[in-house]
Amino acid sequence: ASTTRTTRLLEADAAGIAEAARILAAGGLVALPTETVYGLACDATEPRAVADLYAAKGRPSFNPLIAHVPDLEAARRVGVLTPAAEALAARFWPGPLTLVVPALEGATCDLARAGLASVALRVPAHPVAQAVLKAAGRPIAAPSANRSGHVSPTTAAHVLADLKGRIDLILDAGPCAVGVESTILDCTGTVPVLLRPGGLPREVIEAALGASLADPDARSTGGPGLEPVPLAPGMLASHYAPSAPVRLEAAEVRPGEALLTFAGAQPPGFEHAADVRDLSPTGDLVEAAARLFAFLRELDAGGAVAIAVVPLPRHDLGEAIADRLRRAAAPRPI
Ligand code: TXA
Ligand code: MG
Repeated sequence: ASTTRTTRLLEADAAGIAEAARILAAGGLVALPTETVYGLACDATEPRAVADLYAAKGRPSFNPLIAHVPDLEAARRVGVLTPAAEALAARFWPGPLTLVVPALEGATCDLARAGLASVALRVPAHPVAQAVLKAAGRPIAAPSANRSGHVSPTTAAHVLADLKGRIDLILDAGPCAVGVESTILDCTGTVPVLLRPGGLPREVIEAALGASLADPDARSTGGPGLEPVPLAPGMLASHYAPSAPVRLEAAEVRPGEALLTFAGAQPPGFEHAADVRDLSPTGDLVEAAARLFAFLRELDAGGAVAIAVVPLPRHDLGEAIADRLRRAAAPRPI
């Protein structure tokens, strides 16, 4: 059934938002803009809707979904906000930060949480997402609106390219401002753990906390005084993948390759590149994050033998950009 839907595209005006809320209430699937990427929304309390969503994306159902709510008050009805989570929510919501906390039983269906006792909570800042969440009046599951393993969508056209015929509605509000997914922190323990670098830079969070975030790799192996911490189950090695192979830390452009560059860098072989995109000619990482997924899709569409990527800064949004590129370049399942 997931492959036989008529996908409508509507402007994200009052009528579009009302239609989105109506479809969500009826258990349907709606792609909508958030400030990070477009999400594929459904009623997180309804197992049937969630099962349809997993099928539409081709997503393994062991990979839990983020529950989206309009505000802190609604979040407190879905999960138990630990002191660390309360402090981070007060400082950074609404915005590109997802907090994993103990789940309140029955507030979202088991399938949406992939059976976990924790729940990932996000309060998006985008006015269209806010309006839909308020109208829906229930937690909304919303993974990125791409086929599982593909590059995340930052425009309605990207969503259409991946999910046409598999979902009911796409609300178009133009390109997403942030361009990479939310930062995910595990707040189930006393020290927040960075599960996924994202649109809210680590440096900004650490400055607000006055402390360093724990590293999931160090914590997941346990150690003296440390509980093992599960990683975000969705952080599969290969993800965000275009169909062309991605070659990182490229010092030159090889024959037939397209080039993803930064700050005007022109490595040897530049003149022969099949195609070129500069993430930010001025070296601005905010601009680079906003353009990353669209440029990967554009370079992929050109049919180059590979996409070579110049070395990029690792600080601030550079951490999330490096994470997404590493997954795009990872060995693929056949
Ligand atoms: O910016 C975003 O977060 C976007 C927009 C649409 O809100 N959503 C998004 O969702 O990126 P998705 O499904 O593509 O990524 C959610 C990640 C997955 O890696 C999943 O494994 C992890 O969150 N996750 C969800 N629930 C979790 C939990 N209880 N514990 C640990 N990780 C969890
Ligand atoms: Mg995703």
